[in-house]
Amino acid sequence: MIGRYRPSLVNSHEPRPVAVITGASAGIGAATAVELARRGHDLVISARRRERLAEVAARATEAAGRAVRTEIVPLDVTVRGHSAELLDAAERAFGRFDVVYANAGYGMERPMHALDDVELRHMFETNFFSSVELCNEAARRLIKAGRRGHLFMCSSCVAKFTLPDFGAYSASKAAQAHVARAMAYELRPHGIMVSSVHPVTTATEFFDVSRERMLPGHEQQYAIHGMSRLFVQRPEVVARAIARAVGKPRTEVWTSFPTRVAAGIITAFPWLFDMAVGLSRRRATEARAS
Ligand SMILES: NC(=O)c1ccc[n+]([C@@H]2O[C@H](COP(=O)([O-])OP(=O)(O)OC[C@H]3O[C@@H](n4cnc5c(N)ncnc54)[C@H](OP(=O)(O)O)[C@@H]3O)[C@@H](O)[C@H]2O)c1
Repeated sequence: MIGRYRPSLVNSHEPRPVAVITGASAGIGAATAVELARRGHDLVISARRRERLAEVAARATEAAGRAVRTEIVPLDVTVRGHSAELLDAAERAFGRFDVVYANAGYGMERPMHALDDVELRHMFETNFFSSVELCNEAARRLIKAGRRGHLFMCSSCVAKFTLPDFGAYSASKAAQAHVARAMAYELRPHGIMVSSVHPVTTATEFFDVSRERMLPGHEQQYAIHGMSRLFVQRPEVVARAIARAVGKPRTEVWTSFPTRVAAGIITAFPWLFDMAVGLSRRRATEARAS
């Protein structure tokens, strides 16, 4: 049994730990890159928009107060084999990786019957299959090298319940959470930790991307500007929760205790949630009619 991964930030004789992050050009991924850099990590950051990644690298250096060594790898996570490309880049640049955060993803508000097969599969390719591919590839390499590490998958609070028009998205996030937990049990004897991350509503580009995918004539129900600020987190809050969890054997990282409790209540009393959803839908219909 290999001991668990501990970030070696305090030991100046060891090389800096290296964090590999997908979806690092914006939102939670970008904030996590900056936070981990601040806590001593070097970075391998990836997304489709190269220029945005360069901006994140500059932000990381500014926040860390040192020249953060950063490898920028522009790629699309739906392309099979992207994980090997990303981890090859990490090993070429640093000879190692310690933390892997499969974060790239997007949301969509759409009733299931209005979702075609191509859209559903694309969502699962991006949110689910890409994160499984990356964590599996990372696990195989760590085991082969006899190294420890910590793998994270960005799931969501809606992995534990769903809402109207959120069936596909919630399903992709629930699938991630189950796989991450199974991997956590399987990889523990190898000294590799696996955690799913469960953010609540977070102020990122997520809702703009989701709006672009709305059906014509449909209104966005979960637009961030319509929500009380009490229920909206900043991506830095999620980033700090992830950074605090690095090296700790937590199967789930939550960023809101009340939502975690609510998810438990929904599981125990599903009828209560059904009533609340029914009521809020009726109110929304009445508001539209008046
Ligand atoms: N915001 C929320 O309320 C919330 C709540 C719970 C969970 N989450 C989860 O948090 C994660 C990050 O989302 P966010 O809120 O930070 O949204 P965001 O600001 O829209 O960031 C999404 C990131 O994913 C990347 N991405 C999307 N599709 C990609 C693809 N095919 N290939 C490579 N990169 C891709 C985007 O980069 P490029 O466009 O440059 O490729 C971007 O960096 C997602 O998994 C999301 O499901 C978000």
